[in-house]
Amino acid sequence: MPIHWYPGHMNKASHEMKSVLKDVDLIIELLDARLPFSSQNPTIKELSTTKPCIKVLSKSDLADPALTRDWQVHFEQEESVKTLATNLDIKHKAESVLHLCQKLSPKTLRSTRTMIAMITGIPNVGKSTLINALAGRKVAKTGNEPAITKGQQRIKINEEVTLLDTPGILWPKIHNENSGYRLAISGAIKDTAMNVEDVAFYLSGYLLKQYPESVNQLLDTKTLPNDDLALLEALGRKRGCLRRGGQVDLEKVSSVLVNEFRTGKLGRISLETPSMIPAEEAQVEQLKEEKQRRDELRKAKRKKK
Ligand code: G4P
Repeated sequence: MPIHWYPGHMNKASHEMKSVLKDVDLIIELLDARLPFSSQNPTIKELSTTKPCIKVLSKSDLADPALTRDWQVHFEQEESVKTLATNLDIKHKAESVLHLCQKLSPKTLRSTRTMIAMITGIPNVGKSTLINALAGRKVAKTGNEPAITKGQQRIKINEEVTLLDTPGILWPKIHNENSGYRLAISGAIKDTAMNVEDVAFYLSGYLLKQYPESVNQLLDTKTLPNDDLALLEALGRKRGCLRRGGQVDLEKVSSVLVNEFRTGKLGRISLETPSMIPAEEAQVEQLKEEKQRRDELRKAKRKKK
């Protein structure tokens, strides 16, 4: 699925993030609990191996609880990583985040100076909600949009912890096509940057396979639709998304389905599991290699001419 957005400012934010990482003691990375793999910033993944990291799985109230636990176990296999699942009732979790900061901070740093914790996350993941809970006040949002120039800001939480807030960024290229769809379904990618019908077809296919009971509930039926199109058409008829002549308006029903997912009306659903990822990564690698071979062939042909 082609995604159309302007990645320039995100590139800049990513470079800025890399350059300050050396001064950071700890990383607080917000991940969407419904897509913990796809909402991970590859830059952080690459660079954070040397830094302790708290992965906060936000919006866990919307995610499949069993899979959220699977993801926590998966991430915590790495020694320097701790995880925490949060929901909108985040105030009491803020203390747990600070407690983890203390626990993970380098021993040499404790009681000598304020710890710098960099906080990162894709747009809309709930970063401001967490920062406000940590600070105990409403903190101005660090710019996610190109028009907002504020790059990074420091927020003193207490004598021990200062947060370094970074803009909510997405990366310029999403190599795993499945991740692109999942980010679009979650609302991290603006709706204007993608084709909502493509996204809804992907979501329908996934629901039929992984959450058939939710589909039956959604359509109030005991027989599953045969495929993604049948699901969308049945939902379109149920929600009155019809064109003149009674044909289902696919664009309209697509938006309805995606919005009902985002607001939790379809139930608690996660879009990926730890066991799905290795095969997807292998496919991405294969596609990269094929592209490299095609590029080399093309170069060789041009040289010959
Ligand atoms: P950001 O800074 O990462 O861009 O995200 P922000 O905190 O602004 O949150 C984006 C939206 O996600 C907000 O909803 C917020 O209320 C919601 N949200 C944040 N954390 C959670 C969570 O754990 N669970 C659920 N269900 N929602 C969460 P909004 O409708 O855009 O704004 P508002 O009406 O709540 O102000």
